[in-house]
This record gives sequence, structure tokens and C-alpha cells, in this order.
Amino acid sequence: MTYRKIKDQKDYINLVLELIEHDKHYYLEAKPVISDYEYDQLIKELQVFEKENSDLIHPNSPTLRIGEVLTQGFKHLAHLSPMMSLANAYSKDELKDFLKRIYKLLEKEDVKFCSELKMDGTAISIRYEKGHLTKALTRGNGKIGDDVTTNIKTIKTLPLKLHGKNIPGLIEVRGEVFMHKNIFKKLNENRENEGLDVFANPRNAAAGSLKLLDPKEVSKRHLDVICYGIANAEEFVLSQFEMHGFLKGFGLPISSEKHFKLCKNLDDILSFANKIEHLREKLSFEIDGIVIKVDDVKNHKSLGFTGKSPRYAVAYKFAAEQAITTIKDITIQIGRTGILTPVAELEPVFLAGSTISRATLHNIDEIQRKDIRITDAVVIEKGGDVIPKVVSVDFTKRKKQAIKFEMPKKCPICSSDVINIKGEVAHRCTNLSCKGQNLRSLIYFAAKNAMDIEHLGAKVMQTLLEMGFVSKPSDIYLLNEEMLSKVEGFKEKSIKNLLNSIEKSKKCPFSRFIMALGIKYVGSETADLLAAHAKDIKKLQKITKEELLNIEGIGDIAASSIIEYFEDQNNLDEIDKLLSLGVSPKKPKETKKDPLFFNKSFVLTGSLEKYTRSQAQNLIKERGGKTSSSVSKNTDYVLVGSEPGSKFDKAKKLGIKTLMEDEFSAML
Ligand code: IVH
Repeated sequence: MTYRKIKDQKDYINLVLELIEHDKHYYLEAKPVISDYEYDQLIKELQVFEKENSDLIHPNSPTLRIGEVLTQGFKHLAHLSPMMSLANAYSKDELKDFLKRIYKLLEKEDVKFCSELKMDGTAISIRYEKGHLTKALTRGNGKIGDDVTTNIKTIKTLPLKLHGKNIPGLIEVRGEVFMHKNIFKKLNENRENEGLDVFANPRNAAAGSLKLLDPKEVSKRHLDVICYGIANAEEFVLSQFEMHGFLKGFGLPISSEKHFKLCKNLDDILSFANKIEHLREKLSFEIDGIVIKVDDVKNHKSLGFTGKSPRYAVAYKFAAEQAITTIKDITIQIGRTGILTPVAELEPVFLAGSTISRATLHNIDEIQRKDIRITDAVVIEKGGDVIPKVVSVDFTKRKKQAIKFEMPKKCPICSSDVINIKGEVAHRCTNLSCKGQNLRSLIYFAAKNAMDIEHLGAKVMQTLLEMGFVSKPSDIYLLNEEMLSKVEGFKEKSIKNLLNSIEKSKKCPFSRFIMALGIKYVGSETADLLAAHAKDIKKLQKITKEELLNIEGIGDIAASSIIEYFEDQNNLDEIDKLLSLGVSPKKPKETKKDPLFFNKSFVLTGSLEKYTRSQAQNLIKERGGKTSSSVSKNTDYVLVGSEPGSKFDKAKKLGIKTLMEDEFSAML
């Protein structure tokens, strides 16, 4: 564990800087590298040192502020009352201490507590004015948050207008935005197919989704929300327990009645915690503990705060679900782009509802950092994460003959050379026709968000590859009844089903065909942009880098990769083969040709009042116009919102027509 003693000011500053980095990983990148528990231990270390050395407190110490860094691209607005964090209790004793403190401060022991689920998502504050949802802010730095109103409105369970009687003039409801486990699973499957990074857990997926700049994309993430609090609650309710019913009365989504309880003492709280811990696996969403709140709301303010947390509540965190097992072997998995991923083959062990026999080790750096060796006894953990991970090695049980793992010099599938590109952690197989890569690419080609060939999943594809029936995508379209009848388990009906879905896939939308080509750095969003821009594959093949860079949303890395792909004659031949076998992707719908917009190139700068940036872009594109991210002599109009950037200056310099928002509206 990372827990250590701070000896001097140098140690202290180093830890401050380290924690600032962790804040960035957690809040900004939604990719934490240490557990919440480890983070809290480090914070405690800082607090101990700062208590004794108050003259040395660093102005940026993470103890002085509340987490999140604001994201660019959103307006920042103030909360009606600060959004605080919760202190954590990790053991029965720490929970006992919390109760004792409350009894002491309130000078009585007859105190009721409301125990509820600690939703594992991202905090949100939702403002209703005269019953209408007017603003939704993330926690941000506690005082000021990101304005994610348009994104929040994509949550279907959240009323845009409150129901019921006695609707307050102004109320700021607090809650947690989260992603259901099944949605998260699907999202990651799709991202994996698209060659994108997967989210580590539903919390990161929810936080990341809420901060997408395009609300349309947010709505595809099917976020959900649970409300559990009100800013200045004492103005609205007497008790926390009642608050749930109060919010429900307005049609707001709250926890199920089975998931919060009025508790009289520690035993009550512990039995609720126990019940919830057993239920945890069956819930459709992730929780990471329970929250215990003093029920009487008028005590909330009087109990006051310590640092960033109010004294009236505590989070009783569940330990991440862990198990101990041994590493039988470390094997290699080859990805679509040839990356070699080391995988721990484990002695099967039951953990959090399923038997685990494999865990990803990510890369050689991770193995060396944790000093993982074959035959080691290890702790594995399944938090909210998709794939279980190896947390640590039990060195006391290390065998003398424990084998250090090294990345193979040759690909275990095709025996070609493996290279480690300078500056990359990953090792890659150099053989472009490696069977391991080959299989992954074929699976990718047939996947739902590409050609969407039903009945052609990973297993069937592997068999077809092993039997020599397919080795490249076009071979799929040469499969026939006779060949398939030789495949084990394939009968008349399954043969017919597969052939039908292969036939059906020939008319896939153009953007999905682009996806299926498996061009590096081209996920579904880029594929949509390319399809809208080029209309057919022959035109796309001839696209120039300059043209690509002019498409808003396509950056330098993707543009280079697209050009490289179409420069390869093998790729062009394979595309021709697919077309000759009847694959004819559907062209995107023709846009309405509005002479004011048609073929005109627009650049947007500053923020608009009436439209979000993507709404404005869509309005332009729908009318046959183009949008670009930079001003050049080919730009026809620069649409100028408030606080415009340097693009406005450049437009004036080049003498390009600028449009104010109302002029743009008039054009529409
Ligand atoms: S009350 C003073 N209740 O946990 C803070 N928070 O670790 C008031 N959370 O920022 C929060 N479930 O995002 C409260 N039932 C619940 C919660 C909950 C999840 C989150 C919330 C908070 C974080 C603190």
C-alpha cells in the first residue's frame, strides 16, 4: 500500500503534488490509478502533517479544496449552497466513532439516523424554478460547477417539470448520476469493437458521459439519476427520511423504499449495511457503501463541517470484493491491431457472483511494477471494474521457483517478431496477416456496429478461420451452404440463418461499412463524419489530408491514419472485392439543398445563446453546408457568439464575412 509517513516538508510537498495528479486522473480523466481507500489514506497523512505544521500548508493542498477540476467547454455557475463531500468510515470502529461524535455534539444519545445507499456515480445539483428544470450543475470545485443542463435533460427518469402540489419557487435538488450495469457492459463491448478505450467502471462511464459536449451522444449513454438531498434542506423538510417521500411527491426519481431505513442505533445501521452488502450483487447499478445521515435536518447546519465534509453524515464504504488465488500461468492475447496483452491464468476462484479464471495484467510495466510472477499467490479484486484485476502479490507465499514473466520476442500465434515501439508501453506483433490479429479483425468486421452480421460471433468466426474458409472479410461473402454444412453444429436452419444475415449485411449504412474497414482511430463518430462528407467509398478513397482536417471533429492523428489506410493497395483491392461480391453500402440521405448554405463553409467561434455548438453545426449540415474548425481563405462565414476566440480576429484579417447569432437565425 502507498501509505507512508511524511518526514519533512519535502516529503509533504511531494505528496501534495502526487495527490494533485491523482485528482486529475480521477476527476478530469475519469481514470483513477489508485483506489479510493488508498487515496483517503494519503489525504489522512496530509491532514496529520498539516495539523502539526499549519505554517507549512501548501496553497494547493488537496485538503483545502473539494475535488473536481472544471472541464472546459461548459459554462461555470455557482451552486446555491456548496456541494460538499462525505467523510468515509471503513470499519465498524470508525462508524462507532462517528456515532459517538454525534452524541457528544448533540449532547444526547436519542438520535435517529437515515441510512441509505451510497450510489457510485457522479454528483449533480438540479435546480427547479417555479417547477421547471432550469439548471443542472456538476459538483465542480464545490462552489462552482459545470453547467450540464442540456446533458441532464437527456435523462428520461428526471422530470423537466415537477408534478404535484405546493411546488417551491426555487429548489436545488442533489443526487447522483449513474449508469446501469447492463448499459455499461454494452457500452464497453461497443467501445472495444470500435477499438476505443473501455471505461474502468460505471462511475467513470457516467462521469465521462455527462461531460460529453454533444447532448445527442449523451442521450445514447442512457444515464440515470437518483435524488437524495436538497440544498438548504431545512427550508423544505424536517427529516432526511421524509425527504425521500417529499422528492418522490414531485415525481423525482429516488431510491427504492427497500433501500433506505430509519435507524435508532449502531446495531440497526449495521444490520442495514449487512442486508445491503448481500443485495449489492443483485442491484442493477453499482453502490460502494451506505451513507448514514442524522435524520433531524435542523441538526445538519448546527453540527457544522470539518474541512470539506459536513459532520452530520458519513459514508460507510464496502471493501472492494477480493479473493486470493494463484497464478498458474501468464499467457498472451493478441488484439486487432496486433497489441500483445499479458493475461493471468488463475486457479479458478469464486468472486462476487462468478467464477474467475483469468485477469488482465495490462502490460509488462504493470507486471514489473507489482512484481507479479508465475506461481505467485495474489489478491484479485472485482470492484466496479469489468475485468478482475490483480491487486497485489502475497510475497510471504512466494515460491523459490516463481518465474519472472518476460514479453515474448516472437508472436505466440504466428511466430513473427514482436516489437516494442519507443515511447509506447505496448508490444506489437509485426505480422499484418497474423492469425491472432486476423481473427480479431474479422470479429470486428462482423460486429454489430460494423457490418452487423448476426450469427457470426467470435466462436463461429474462429472455427471458420481454423477451417480455412475465411481469412479476410471478403471471404465471408463467398461462404455457401456446402462449406457451412461441414462446420460442426451447423444444421439446415443455422446455415440458412447465417447466409441470410450475410446477405442482409450487404446493404449496411455507409458509415458502418467505414467502421468495418477497421481503420485505426476511426470509431463510429468519425465514421459518421466521413460518411456524411464523402457519400461513397470511391470518393472517400481519394480524399486528401487537407480535406479531412477541414471536417470538424477529425484531428491530425485520425486524418493521417485514414490516408495511410487508403494508400495501401491491399486495402483497396479488398474493398473492390467486397463491392464485386455485392456489398453496396447505403448512401446517407441527401441533405436539403438550401442555396444560402449549400456548399458554404462555416466556422463557429464563441458561445451561442439559442443553440449549442452541435445544434448549430447540424442545422448547417442539414442544409448542405459544411463546418470546419479553422478559418482559412476557403471559409465563407464565421458565426460569432459571445466571447469569440482568435478565429474572429483571423476572419476580420482575411476579410471573411462574419455572422452574428441573429443574422444566422434569420438565414435559417
Ligand atoms: S449525501 C455532504 N447521499 O457520495 C454531501 N451522497 O463521497 C452530501 N453519494 O458527493 C452527499 N450516494 O456524490 C449523499 N445517498 C447519498 C449518496 C451520496 C452517493 C455521493 C455524492 C457525494 C459523494 C461523497
